[in-house]
Amino acid sequence: MNTIELKNVSKIYNNKVTAMDNVSLKLTEGEFIAVMGQSGSGKSTLLQITGLLDSCTSGEVIINGENVSKLDKNKLADVRMKSLGFVFQAFHLNSHLKVYENIMVPMLINSEFKNKAEMKQRAEELVATVGLSHRIDHYPSELSGGEQQRVAIARALANNPDFILADEPTGNLDSKNELMIFEELKKLTKSGKGVLVVSHNDAVIDFADTICIMKDGVLEEK
Ligand SMILES: Nc1ncnc2c1ncn2[C@@H]1O[C@H](COP(=O)(O)OP(=O)(O)OP(=O)(O)O)[C@@H](O)[C@H]1O
Ligand SMILES: [Mg+2]
Repeated sequence: MNTIELKNVSKIYNNKVTAMDNVSLKLTEGEFIAVMGQSGSGKSTLLQITGLLDSCTSGEVIINGENVSKLDKNKLADVRMKSLGFVFQAFHLNSHLKVYENIMVPMLINSEFKNKAEMKQRAEELVATVGLSHRIDHYPSELSGGEQQRVAIARALANNPDFILADEPTGNLDSKNELMIFEELKKLTKSGKGVLVVSHNDAVIDFADTICIMKDGVLEEK
């Protein structure tokens, strides 16, 4: 069973700001967890630490049974590449690359792909799963915000990670597109991925199996 676990994790910035205060959380495969809370409550910090993009001040991060808190930079990058996919509010697509090329970017550091043709084939599969095959040769600027975020989801899936972590994925979208993105993320749980979304968008409540609230760095399950 794939899991990500935070055990008594605290994050104190500059010896001053306690952004996470003794947070414990377990995300299991097939589960959709939403972490909600006001601006500044520590949601992005929690996502960054869960995603190994930043280190915690104390506590442990355990991915599929391995304590990754003390791994060196290269090993962390390896775990991130194999196990985690990220989606951000601002999409972060490369404007100079076509849709399929954007989706191929994470594959370039994955030695399991033998050549570009294999990567392109995988990108074609992924673009189909988010319903954008007809846009595969377009540039991001030619897509709507909702479409760009679906490309970002396809890119997050490039290396077939166990978990998808999303920080305010609907923050730049209108209400129709935000439902489409949450539906897309929900669909991933059906194929066994664990999904963690941090957001202050109430619409996520209908999609999540577990809802947690972050308040001043303290996490409570609702
Ligand atoms: N790199 C940093 N250095 C110092 N303080 C930081 C840093 N990043 C975040 N903080 C502080 O940590 C606290 C939590 O910030 P965080 O970005 O996790 O909140 P958030 O819940 O994601 O807010 P929002 O909903 O506005 O995105 C805030 O008080 C913030 O000012
Ligand atoms: Mg944030």
